[in-house]
Amino acid sequence: MNVGILGSGVVGQTLGAKLAERGVEVVLGTRTPKQLDEKRGMGAPLSDWVAKAGKHGRLGTFAEAAAHGELVINATSGTGSLEALTLAGAKNLDGKILMDVANPLDFSKGVPPSLTICNTDSLGEQIQKAFPRAKVVKTLNTTNAYVMVDPNTVARGDHDIFVSGNDAEAKRRVASLLEEWFGWKSVIDLGDITSARGAEMILPIWVRLWGALGTPMFNFKIAR
Ligand SMILES: NC(=O)c1ccc[n+]([C@@H]2O[C@H](COP(=O)([O-])OP(=O)(O)OC[C@H]3O[C@@H](n4cnc5c(N)ncnc54)[C@H](OP(=O)(O)O)[C@@H]3O)[C@@H](O)[C@H]2O)c1
Repeated sequence: MNVGILGSGVVGQTLGAKLAERGVEVVLGTRTPKQLDEKRGMGAPLSDWVAKAGKHGRLGTFAEAAAHGELVINATSGTGSLEALTLAGAKNLDGKILMDVANPLDFSKGVPPSLTICNTDSLGEQIQKAFPRAKVVKTLNTTNAYVMVDPNTVARGDHDIFVSGNDAEAKRRVASLLEEWFGWKSVIDLGDITSARGAEMILPIWVRLWGALGTPMFNFKIAR
């Protein structure tokens, strides 16, 4: 399967490198695919990513990444996601699974961030409304980039990840890809895309846990 990743930060780079390592053909999208040498947020310069991704990964614009992907991943900043997806182009998302891992975090007033969208709406829903022909599946946004691609590094993988979305088959496919690509053992289907509200509103506690535990290498385990 070809995968297009929108986002050149630590999340896009980490997901992209892991998929390329597994032989998935990846195009990593950014507005500036020719700028290789500057650090990308908490991620490395893209020259490092190109070297790491090897023959299965290349850089492109958001539109090139989305056109390449049979499945597309949104790993852009929550406040820029709709703009990034617009640049990617609705026709390049039509009928495709769009894995949305973004969080609507507002750092404009410093840390801890607040949510730009919450309670009666979510970024996942706004994306689904703006791109009705894409099959949006909100997932992986509740854990750190390194845990996303290697859940076994925390408690031997005995913890949970969520999926939210309107298309049951798309959610099943994503759950099976999360297992196949990264080794996720427990995927909880929260319901339709409105359930992304809860998955996004867990972020304020996630951020505080990072501070309290002194490491981002943790995840939620739903005791039953
Ligand atoms: N860091 C984590 O471990 C983690 C964990 C879970 C979820 N998340 C979520 O995953 C997403 C990615 O996080 P990140 O830290 O890798 O990167 P980030 O710094 O949040 O986002 C970087 C990406 O957003 C794009 N972007 C920003 N503003 C834009 C705009 N106005 N229009 C178009 N594109 C725009 C950038 O485009 P260019 O490439 O063109 O600069 C870049 O590709 C975020 O939503 C974050 O909340 C992060």
